[in-house]
Amino acid sequence: MNETVVVAGAVCDRGRLLAARRSAPPELAGRWELPGGKVEPGESPQQALVRELREELGIETEPLRRIAGEWPLRPGLVLHAWTARLLDGEPRPLQDHDELRWLAPEEADEVDWLPQDRPAVAEAMRILGAL
Ligand code: CDP
Repeated sequence: MNETVVVAGAVCDRGRLLAARRSAPPELAGRWELPGGKVEPGESPQQALVRELREELGIETEPLRRIAGEWPLRPGLVLHAWTARLLDGEPRPLQDHDELRWLAPEEADEVDWLPQDRPAVAEAMRILGAL
């Protein structure tokens, strides 16, 4: 069974979590996610995450730890999430997004998260709140 992993980044900086609003495809537009994308053949999940966040947001990041769990997206595609630290750059929506927000733990519910991202967001906020 070949399952493609989508790796999403819980990017943290100064006690806040980065949320990104999707602009495409139409069925996902307007919903918020942890930014990321598919792991390509030959890549580690960490390499894929660094690449996707660079391409989509223009930032340099350091993946930290995988958030426990995996969430099915559709047959053959599964979502994983990693915490990551912002190393350099100010995120800008360069590709798949039209708005970004840095959310403190108490602001987690202020955006309309994709349902499959919610468990990872909750865990990322729990980690942030405990720091
Ligand atoms: O850019 P790439 O094609 O590698 O990936 P993507 O289009 O960003 O994401 C692939 C699929 O994963 C889409 O169906 C997204 O909706 C889904 N996804 C998600 O459910 N949650 C995320 N945090 C990131 C992606």
